[in-house]
Amino acid sequence: MLSHLSTPALDPILSLSVAFRQDPRPEKVDLGIGVYKNSQGETPIMQAVQQAQKWVVETQTTKSYVGLAGCEEFNQSIAKLVLGETPVFDRLTAIQTPGASGALRMLGDLMRVAQPETTVWLTNPSYINHKPVMEAAGLKVKYYAYFSSQSKMVDVERMLDDLSQAGPKDVVLLHGCCHNPTGADIDFSAWQAITELALKQGFTPFVDIAYQGFGGGLEEDAKGLRHMAAQVEEMLITTSCSKNFGLYRERTGAAIVLGKNAQEVANARGKMLTLARSTYTMPPAHGAALVKTVLQSEALTSIWKQELNEMQHRLLSLRQTLCNELRNQHNTAQFDFIENHKGMFTVLGFSAEQMHHLREEFAIYGVADGRINIAGLTEKDIPYVAEAIVKVS
Ligand code: LMR
Repeated sequence: MLSHLSTPALDPILSLSVAFRQDPRPEKVDLGIGVYKNSQGETPIMQAVQQAQKWVVETQTTKSYVGLAGCEEFNQSIAKLVLGETPVFDRLTAIQTPGASGALRMLGDLMRVAQPETTVWLTNPSYINHKPVMEAAGLKVKYYAYFSSQSKMVDVERMLDDLSQAGPKDVVLLHGCCHNPTGADIDFSAWQAITELALKQGFTPFVDIAYQGFGGGLEEDAKGLRHMAAQVEEMLITTSCSKNFGLYRERTGAAIVLGKNAQEVANARGKMLTLARSTYTMPPAHGAALVKTVLQSEALTSIWKQELNEMQHRLLSLRQTLCNELRNQHNTAQFDFIENHKGMFTVLGFSAEQMHHLREEFAIYGVADGRINIAGLTEKDIPYVAEAIVKVS
């Protein structure tokens, strides 16, 4: 049986982490996978999460099963974090999933069951895992214009033009904030325009918000999504606690579904629970217990928000410093776009060969599509990284 398998391609992001760990060069810099590092180059457990963890470990009395949807208090808290005061809670359901990739697959499977002929439209380019997950769920995938390689920002006109071709059998996947891989976000007026198009053309918006809090702050980052949710009848949302709670390995995320009415939402929830049962049965409990504990405690929420705010501001300062360094070393404004990007990522506009060159010659690891993780930089790395970028450009 196994002899029928061909050798699979390596994951373009996760394989970088492995190669980085094995690289003996002391000057190496990991700008591959989307993980936040502090100025010492570490990814520490957040204080609020540490405290929640202590409390959970000390008070937990059982390891018995939780349930197919995971922790209900987590589900409610996370839906509130994403949607705030948006008046949609009477036509919404949220279930805990193993990370946001688990949520993407859950909603992909739900779409296939509900409407097998669905085509999912992705931004060009999009998160490397969007296409494989949607195709693995049996859906067709198509790209819409998004990033302009000239301006290094979103080409809103071309994007809206493409989306005006989408219809009722289409699902349009948007990045809630901090676009992965480009760092180029749509502004609020573009969110309004896409909402108008969704209402007019009948497509379903699907918002993947994996970096809430890393762009303009928790509220600002969800503003477009919330506007849209209040207007459209149906909407799908995936969210992640990997980055904003630093829970990466705990695989904590959620799938949120908004429908026309409570009955349709209950049907979608029931179907998702059946899908969960036939794959992983129920999500891992620990990460969700920590998030729930933080979000249900005013004191811990305030510590967590403060920490997240510091991370967001440090990211801004890293962007600025890298940008200044490149301006000085390159003597041009060619890399100024880095400062306009949001969240963890930026695409340099480098080819796969140039990214390979960065890695082979300078031990700087970025993704082959030209993406670098600004959150993987430390202040002391910046002159070296800028010098390498200038040499490779
Ligand atoms: C990334 O894009 O680096 C992260 O979202 C990690 C992942 O799951 O691929």
